[in-house]
Amino acid sequence: MKKTLLSGVKPTGRPHIGNYFGAMKQWLDIQSQYDCNFMIADYHGLNFIQNGSEMKDQILNLAIDYLAIGLDPEKSVIFKQSDVSAHTELAWIFETITTMPYLMRAHAFKDAEAKNKEIGVGTFNYPMLMAADILLYDADIVPVGQDQKQHIEYARDTAQKFNHIFGETFKLPEPLIMKDVATVPGTDGQKMSKSYGNTIPLFSSKEEIVKAVMSIVTDSTSEVPKNVYEIHKLFKSEAELSKLYSENKGKYKVLKEALIEDIETFVKPMRERRHELMQDVGKIEKVLAEGAIRANKKANTKLIEAKKKIGVL
Ligand code: ADP
Ligand code: TRP
Repeated sequence: MKKTLLSGVKPTGRPHIGNYFGAMKQWLDIQSQYDCNFMIADYHGLNFIQNGSEMKDQILNLAIDYLAIGLDPEKSVIFKQSDVSAHTELAWIFETITTMPYLMRAHAFKDAEAKNKEIGVGTFNYPMLMAADILLYDADIVPVGQDQKQHIEYARDTAQKFNHIFGETFKLPEPLIMKDVATVPGTDGQKMSKSYGNTIPLFSSKEEIVKAVMSIVTDSTSEVPKNVYEIHKLFKSEAELSKLYSENKGKYKVLKEALIEDIETFVKPMRERRHELMQDVGKIEKVLAEGAIRANKKANTKLIEAKKKIGVL
């Protein structure tokens, strides 16, 4: 029997190469080895996008992105979180066995507090919905970027707590984090993130790639521009790069131009596939509808088991 995998991304903007190398690429590499579930985390995204038409657009775009990078609906269940109400229902059950101080230890909460931001209840409870996402499918592994590791720990703790109170029900998931690309830096050297405006979008046009790469911050005192090199490493082996960078010491423009070409070579076929997929929205909607049926079947089986354990069924 194959092991089970679940992962997801919020539909909150165009995916960038950080999302791709930190999370999505791992999905492709192991799609055939696992029983895979890939989710569009729209209810998590609702904490950030509170505009109906924008949400609709973003969901469709992310579904297209999933298919364009090579996720295969024949092999994997591709679905929208909001299509499977078991997620929010189980999140509620988990919230009743979870304390506020425990959730207050989450990095995302602490960051918001440190910045004196007013935090929404949905954001505060974010780890509980994510625990439900994972535990409903008996996921063995959850491939994510380094920044999501704590959320997987929350899911494990919550599974353990539920099992302890109500009896063995949930499997403890493991995170899968690619070591070499744990955190992809953005054009300013900080973590690449939609929220920092320092991204290189995954489906960029050539012009966008040029603009983003030319804006990569370089430190004029060193021979090797660190930020350029760190991004370049994703596209070429260190052996190839060591030749290129030693032959072009201090020539930032040449190195950036080489990086532009390497990103373009990599992105072009995916960009073209995405363009083709966009011509048939009906097909995308069908993939999500079929995914919803399959995901509901799995999730509801587990939810019923949990509801029996807590005594409401
Ligand atoms: P963003 O920070 O741009 O909003 P998300 O929080 O939507 O990105 O992340 C989606 C997935 O991509 C997560 O699994 C996350 O860990 C991964 N990821 C995001 N940014 C990076 C990065 N700079 N390097 C590696 N992985 C990343
Ligand atoms: N929190 C994840 C992110 O911001 C998205 C997500 C929601 C997720 N539910 C999940 C990832 C379950 C993996 C498994 O990227």
